[in-house]
Amino acid sequence: VAKENPSLSNFKFPTDDFSNVSPKILSLVGKNLHNKEFHPLCLMKKRIMQYFYAAYRGRTGKPIFSIFDDLHPMVTVEQNFDSLLIPKDHVSRKKSDCFYFNKNYMLRAHMTAHQVELIKMGLDNFLMFGDVYRRDEIDSTHYPVFHQCDAVRLFHREQLFDLIQTEVFEKNPTIESKVKQKEHSVIACREIEQQLKVTLEGLARCIFGNDIECRWVDAYFPFTHPSWELEIKRNGDWLEVLGCGIIRHAILQQAGAADSIGWAFGLGLDRLAMIQYSIPDIRTFWMEDPGFLIQFHNKSPKDKVTYKQVSIFPSCKNDISFWINDNFEENDFHSLVREIGGDLIEQVQLIDKFTHPKTGRKSRCYTIVYRHLEKTLTQAEVNEVHKNIEQTAEKVLGVIIR
Ligand code: PHE
Repeated sequence: VAKENPSLSNFKFPTDDFSNVSPKILSLVGKNLHNKEFHPLCLMKKRIMQYFYAAYRGRTGKPIFSIFDDLHPMVTVEQNFDSLLIPKDHVSRKKSDCFYFNKNYMLRAHMTAHQVELIKMGLDNFLMFGDVYRRDEIDSTHYPVFHQCDAVRLFHREQLFDLIQTEVFEKNPTIESKVKQKEHSVIACREIEQQLKVTLEGLARCIFGNDIECRWVDAYFPFTHPSWELEIKRNGDWLEVLGCGIIRHAILQQAGAADSIGWAFGLGLDRLAMIQYSIPDIRTFWMEDPGFLIQFHNKSPKDKVTYKQVSIFPSCKNDISFWINDNFEENDFHSLVREIGGDLIEQVQLIDKFTHPKTGRKSRCYTIVYRHLEKTLTQAEVNEVHKNIEQTAEKVLGVIIR
């Protein structure tokens, strides 16, 4: 049975100049698509759970990973960033990239926001599933809400010592290198890396089949070192599926787990489900139309389902061009379009940037692609929304329509 979070629409909070959550975004909080039985995102969640349940069992045969799938998405800025050593001036904190209630509270931008609190509770092995919120450009693969799975696996010093028979931590931590943190011994670090890579390659095979081609790419995250991304080959292209690494020792120290070392990873469920079930547009997940969900009804996570679009209704394109000022942020425009056009917006595409040679004034031109997933839009309906976008952009963003 799906658990529902209370919606935040009527929720009152003190606002300040960080506040940028909108009623539309708040109306999506509590939908919990990942907990809706037979929803493709829920099937993907279960597939991942099954893999971890089967691959990791304790001495008595019980699964060792705990599952959290109803952590509320409203978190503190401290949870989302500071607790993970993300610098105060890091780009990912920008107002144009996140949804803030105010300077202290936000909608989580990644599931990693809960990592520290769960480690503090004493958990060593856990998976978290949930909805995450980011302001982003609009196209068929981006939506301001998507879903992530994050995981942590910790080894305590003695446990790992039994495995590698040498010291886990450096006696005198000196400097960090490309391959390890200063606190960890080379061998311990290599062992964790090995464990992590075997686990995640296994997960990729479980999801995409035994023949899937994978490769590891070095990456950077403030909360892990070393860090990697796993890519899989799809139709001749390499596609990034997850980020991972060895958890920063400073994080474990702060969380009361200074005697352990471990790995963490995070992956997006929506894109995996889109690939898995041939779903062409991320907005499809939000459709209430029974024609969508029925195709997954009574399916089990391992069943092969190829989504058939009920029908494709034609799109409508309208251009918008305007003069901008120096404060113009691309994502503010994208959010505004989404706020007004809602799920009618399929794509917003920048088609021209122009600086007037004499006056130095700058302008932008975008094409907005409108498409309703469940009916044909009339030009009149589109014009009305488009006009509203033009007027609101002038009012809110201070641009001037050309
Ligand atoms: N939180 C990262 C993201 O959203 C993913 C990640 C999780 C990377 C845990 C490393 C460890 O991209």
